Amino acid sequence: LVDLRCYHPKVIDHYENPRNVGTLNKSNPAVGTGLVGAPACGDVMKLQIQVDDKTGKITDVKFKTFGCGSAIASSSYMSERVLGLSLDEAEKIQNTEIARELSLPPVKLHCSMLAEDAIQSAIRDYQKKRGTLQ
Ligand code: FES
Ligand code: FES
Repeated sequence: LVDLRCYHPKVIDHYENPRNVGTLNKSNPAVGTGLVGAPACGDVMKLQIQVDDKTGKITDVKFKTFGCGSAIASSSYMSERVLGLSLDEAEKIQNTEIARELSLPPVKLHCSMLAEDAIQSAIRDYQKKRGTLQ
């Protein structure tokens, strides 16, 4: 169990009401899947995006995180943040922004890094499927 007293209210909000939890169909060519782990603690995050071929924008996002409250909050925040963005825009989101928004303490920075890694990995997977990976 997680001791919620250790977390900022913004983290607790995402932890208790995570946005966009779920799974998208991996075999859909418009879906990119990112699966990353944090060696430090063993936490795992899966983040999936669905991209509109015509506009190049992210039209759906789902995540599943097996990890600490900060990792769940970071992926929930990221899922809201990237919805409607182009891949170029989504690629630029850094963990420092997440850490700032959620007021994560230094020991929890790697949790936000997981969310940055996950979106990068999902974008690469989508590009690989589309044959547009550079
Ligand atoms: Fe407080 Fe882990 S629950 S530091
Ligand atoms: Fe490892 Fe949060 S403690 S992801």
